[in-house]
Amino acid sequence: MIEFINIGKQFGENKVLSEVSHVMQTGKCNLIIGTSGSGKTVLQKCLVGLFEPDRGEIFYDGISFTEMNNQSRKGLRQQIGMLFQGSALFDSLTVEQNIMFPLEMFSKMNYGEKKIRVNEVLARVNLEDANNKFPSELSGGMKKRVGIARAIVLNPKYLFCDEPNSGLDPQTSLVIDKLIFDITKEFNMTTVINTHDMNSVMEIGENILYMYQGKKEWTGNNEEIIFSKNERLNEFIFASKFLQDAKDMRMLEAKGIISDDRNMEEILKNGDKLSN
Ligand SMILES: Nc1ncnc2c1ncn2[C@@H]1O[C@H](COP(=O)(O)OP(=O)(O)O)[C@@H](O)[C@H]1O
Ligand SMILES: [Mg+2]
Repeated sequence: MIEFINIGKQFGENKVLSEVSHVMQTGKCNLIIGTSGSGKTVLQKCLVGLFEPDRGEIFYDGISFTEMNNQSRKGLRQQIGMLFQGSALFDSLTVEQNIMFPLEMFSKMNYGEKKIRVNEVLARVNLEDANNKFPSELSGGMKKRVGIARAIVLNPKYLFCDEPNSGLDPQTSLVIDKLIFDITKEFNMTTVINTHDMNSVMEIGENILYMYQGKKEWTGNNEEIIFSKNERLNEFIFASKFLQDAKDMRMLEAKGIISDDRNMEEILKNGDKLSN
């Protein structure tokens, strides 16, 4: 669990985060959503200590990260896995060398042990036999999976992913989302995901923090988001007419108004009247 209270951050005159408070839950996919520039990346960087917030406090499982000395922070960082935007693999290293990198930095394993661990996480992301490939030989989805394998190689308690689906087609995005969701459950991690991908919100949005201009605008889960009346949220999530209609249909379904095909036709004609 990661709790943060009244986080504030500004760069010069630019107030990027104002009084943001939330709890990221253990064993769940915690999503930070919002339009580009709403402060998602800055918030994530504050949480892991890549930026120092100007105000507020952060607690990792009850322990104040804000008040930790550098030594303790270093210890905690070893329990944090990060999947960077664009995967950030080392191009001149093989898949195996990329994944081994954190083990070389932080573990005392011998080569044989490291190799076993690399193969374990490669198998977990369905990339057995990719050990000797270079990043340039991999598809976008495969690169993400290597990034995930590297992020989890040290068995982290906390996993941070910044836009894990950027640059992927919708189908591959779903595979990556499902993988992140499954490993979150399997290893009971506190997973924090920045995204503006509508599919991710619906598929894995167990605990969603919607950011609007650096402030917390709404929180809830993927069921609640469908029924939310928050206008800013709806404009962001259901941006297209098509999605707005889908949302209305889902609401009608839930209200039991749509029960069979005959009814459906009637509703399509009178949708607006019925949805209130
Ligand atoms: N290192 C930085 N220095 C100055 N301003 C920054 C820095 N990083 C981010 N910002 C500003 O913070 C705001 C939020 O950015 P960001 O968190 O990257 O948005 P998001 O990830 O939601 O798209 C933007 O206005 C951006 O210009
Ligand atoms: Mg960002």
